[in-house]
Amino acid sequence: MTSNLQTPPDILTHVDAGVMTLTINRVARKNSITAAMYDAMADALESANHDTAVRAVVIQGHETIFSAGNDIGDFLNNPPATSDAPVFRFLRGISSFPKPIVASVCGPAVGIGTTMLLHCDLIYAGDNAAFSMPFVNLGLCPEAASSFLAVQLMGYPRAAEALLLGEPFMAETALEMGLINRIVPPAEANALAQRQALKLAAKPLASLLETKRLMKKGNAGMVAERMAEEGASFGRMLHEPAAREAFSAFMEKRRPDFSSL
Ligand code: COA
Repeated sequence: MTSNLQTPPDILTHVDAGVMTLTINRVARKNSITAAMYDAMADALESANHDTAVRAVVIQGHETIFSAGNDIGDFLNNPPATSDAPVFRFLRGISSFPKPIVASVCGPAVGIGTTMLLHCDLIYAGDNAAFSMPFVNLGLCPEAASSFLAVQLMGYPRAAEALLLGEPFMAETALEMGLINRIVPPAEANALAQRQALKLAAKPLASLLETKRLMKKGNAGMVAERMAEEGASFGRMLHEPAAREAFSAFMEKRRPDFSSL
């Protein structure tokens, strides 16, 4: 069955042969994600969860950019105000999504572009993939339970480098740390993700669901609790002087000045 759901064009949603593919499609703004895009992705995941014709999901970007993270203009002018804000809705949706999620990542994956991957099951990266979680550089704190999951995945020293310094790391490092499954030429990443998702879609759904549930069970309570705590801090810090300075600096294409903060 092939169908196209009605979603904003910045997020393309396509269902075919048991696989829902979500494409982040705002390349002119480096696939940065607005509130409307989080809503579209949360809606698509909700629909994929309930649609028995969907057995696996692919999340992909463009060959040159996965996502530059949250739209910084939105952070300034339309910050998430409550725990029901679209970004938090999306994060709760992806972190509790019961069917397998395959991600294809090429180019920069900044902020939530990296942290959403901590909730995917199989991740294929182009050799141009560059992962970063520069929350501190923006006067913010981690989200998506990354303060817990990154430490668990990478060990504390490397998580501290990634989250306190906020410096990017490349696909080879991500592979070595176990964040991703395989590195391929960027032009091949989306096709590989699609092939792997089709393999998953051919398997018995109940077995996929139960296996994923069991594998995630040890973390589930902690992830939800940490996401809520991070979300409360993140929401407060968005309005504090360091973040306002960082966002203004980005919009004005200058270096932020944190010397008095
Ligand atoms: N929000 C809003 N606009 C963004 C954006 C974001 N997160 N990331 C990029 N853009 C915009 C730029 O402002 C620029 O707009 P312009 O053409 O009007 O000047 C356009 O997208 C192209 O970005 P540019 O920075 O010129 O591309 P690049 O290839 O040199 O760098 C990135 C790509 C992703 C490395 C860089 O854009 C970046 O670091 N973005 C910010 C990432 C970030 O801090 N995100 C928040 C994480 S919590």
